[in-house]
Amino acid sequence: MAEGGGSHHCSISSRYSRILPEGRQARVTRGVPIGSPKGGPVPTPELRSNSTNAVFSASVFSSTVFSDTVASLRAAGCVFAEDEAHLLLDSAADPAELLGFLERRVAGYPLEHIIGWADFGGLRVAVDSGVFVPRRRTELVVDEAAALLRGNPGGRRPLAHVVVDLCCGSGAVGAALARRVGGIELHAADIDPIAVKCARRNVDEAGGQVYEGDLYEPLPPRLLGKVGLLAVNAPYVPTEAISMMPHEAREHESRISLDGGADGLTFHRRIAAGAPDWLAPGGYLLIETSERQAEGTASIMAAAGFSIRIVHSEELDGTVVIGLRAQAT
Ligand SMILES: C[S@@+](CC[C@H](N)C(=O)[O-])C[C@H]1O[C@@H](n2cnc3c(N)ncnc32)[C@H](O)[C@@H]1O
Repeated sequence: MAEGGGSHHCSISSRYSRILPEGRQARVTRGVPIGSPKGGPVPTPELRSNSTNAVFSASVFSSTVFSDTVASLRAAGCVFAEDEAHLLLDSAADPAELLGFLERRVAGYPLEHIIGWADFGGLRVAVDSGVFVPRRRTELVVDEAAALLRGNPGGRRPLAHVVVDLCCGSGAVGAALARRVGGIELHAADIDPIAVKCARRNVDEAGGQVYEGDLYEPLPPRLLGKVGLLAVNAPYVPTEAISMMPHEAREHESRISLDGGADGLTFHRRIAAGAPDWLAPGGYLLIETSERQAEGTASIMAAAGFSIRIVHSEELDGTVVIGLRAQAT
């Protein structure tokens, strides 16, 4: 399996670990994905009969409904069935909605699309159906970007606090960064109108702007040469590796959010080539990549004139290439 594919290959259980309430963040191992194309087991009769119960608040917390929900999830192959059951029960307004949630989950819909949010960088990020679910590994981009924006490393002139989240999807990276580092001017862009609509829900709150279009094309020209930091998680799964991705990603996230071209690096080439026009001198380009693709991403960025550093986090299973645009002399 290509590493680039692996970077988006979170199983249901490992992705789900992001939205466990604090203190329930079990160490996650890759689990058995649920959601075969034929669908899985359906909720038990007990849960079905409770779905018409008017006093949902009582039934939600009844051990029978909870254990039926857990049983259905577990039968469908869900490793963290109990934690998922808590989230589904917490999110459903009534028994009928719970039943609908459960049926969709058993059919393989991502949990985040069902409950409508993902925990990313300590934020509850809205994630609409069809939009790429932010992965925990991408928190490394936020960590590194925040350190650069705060740190003014090496005594350089202060970094311009204009930040662009390119290929923003839900806008998770920019929104989390704005929360982490005060006073940034945030801009985000994506080509997918569904993602742009979703990103507005997350980025508006941070006072940011979201634009729709191909890479840099929709950004306001006034940002040319003014951007302090470009944070990018663009598609980087090699085309052929997409067929090996879990059903959950292949079926419920858009193809354009995954497909990075033949070697997975098509977007990295285009982004690195365009970045010098937009970055201020001393600005940074951060691109998420996979461990296996990191050298390739780094070579592309070096060829575009950046000084390169590769950062990897075992804990987050994330890799970011950080490129510094040379200061004007
Ligand atoms: C891997 S997803 C990452 C989304 C988000 N950055 C995150 O980490 O959750 C890649 C995103 O790139 C967007 N995208 C694909 N091609 C694009 C293009 N040519 N211009 C802008 N965005 C693009 C997709 O719509 C998708 O939302």
